[in-house]
Amino acid sequence: QRQLRRDIGPEVCQYLSELSKKVIAEAAPPESEILVKRALLERLEAISKTIVPDAKLIAFGSLVTGFATANSDLDVIFTGGDRVDILNESSDDPSSNFRIPMLLESKLQEEGFGTTLLTKTRVPILKLVQKATEQSPYELQCDIGFSNHLALYNTQMLLTYSKCDPRVKEMMIFIKWWAKRRHINNPYRGTLSSYGYALIVLHYLINVVKPPVLPNLQTFPVPDSAPTNEIIFEGDSDDTFEIWFYKDIEKLPKSDNAMDIGELLKGFFEYYAHNFQWGREVVSIRTKGGLMTKQEKGWVAAVIKPGRTENSEVKNRYLFAVEDPFETEHNVSRTCNGPGVNRIKDEFKRAVWLIRVRDGGKTLFQNLCME
Ligand code: GTP
Ligand code: MG
Repeated sequence: QRQLRRDIGPEVCQYLSELSKKVIAEAAPPESEILVKRALLERLEAISKTIVPDAKLIAFGSLVTGFATANSDLDVIFTGGDRVDILNESSDDPSSNFRIPMLLESKLQEEGFGTTLLTKTRVPILKLVQKATEQSPYELQCDIGFSNHLALYNTQMLLTYSKCDPRVKEMMIFIKWWAKRRHINNPYRGTLSSYGYALIVLHYLINVVKPPVLPNLQTFPVPDSAPTNEIIFEGDSDDTFEIWFYKDIEKLPKSDNAMDIGELLKGFFEYYAHNFQWGREVVSIRTKGGLMTKQEKGWVAAVIKPGRTENSEVKNRYLFAVEDPFETEHNVSRTCNGPGVNRIKDEFKRAVWLIRVRDGGKTLFQNLCME
């Protein structure tokens, strides 16, 4: 305990910088893995065309943003055919919603892939695994979605933010690695998705750190309203979404913030350990200042739809609140349950604690990303 001091010196940031360099070198996937993923994407598209001749598979997520860590999954969207044909929305028989996904699944099984078709999700998702072989030493996981075009746009926005400053990608890869190793990056087990971590990192870089590392691309320069070609329709009720964001980043001035990655990481951990009000605030990167309150959003009590049984997922929806930048009624951190949120908060506090131990960085190096 005597090693713990409140006033921490600049050397701590230097240790964090050193650690982040090591982690990034370890976490970033080798070029060969990226090539194998691209080859898989081509093969899957060729197989899809045997079912729907104009099928296309469009990648999104970390393969596109560059935030991939080794063993990241491959996220793709199936397009082509008639949307009505794919989802067969006009039919009263719910099982027919899955006609094309089911055909694709059996075709992929014939080709030797391990598959699982998720049917309880809003739209079908086909999960597949390609086992490692001698030619391709990586086991690859891929999720094929049959809707959710918004994901293509938010992926483009993350990529654009990443192009604004090289520290964005470094922060993202470090935080994802830390969260994976500390087991707080598992939306299926009550914690936050990688996409959720990306949004809370962006909030910190846009709104918290002074001077900011990033401008807010959704308010800068302030548009009167989104151009009509940047409003899209999607979803069950044909909701509209404004997908406008500023893209002409060469015209933006460079950030006045000269902090290195160590200083930024320290500030990030401290902000979510001590300043962010988890119970009251909503991270909202599209908003000036980056925060709204749960009260303002009406995200106070979970809405239980009539006819639906009260399950823990429904009750826990707003324990941690991170608004999607385009689909603003969507809480990206709805996957976090009570124990999950507590574990995430504890990990932020643990990180700050480790940063403050004064022993030449030893404790920090050994423990921060310890599995
Ligand atoms: P890894 O797979 O861990 O490398 O991270 P990733 O950057 O690919 O993120 P993730 O797999 O969590 O999400 C992939 C993409 O799905 C994101 O970039 C978003 O475009 C999209 N997406 C949109 N809404 C959500 C959401 O609520 N949860 C998740 N997980 N993804 C979303
Ligand atoms: Mg992914």
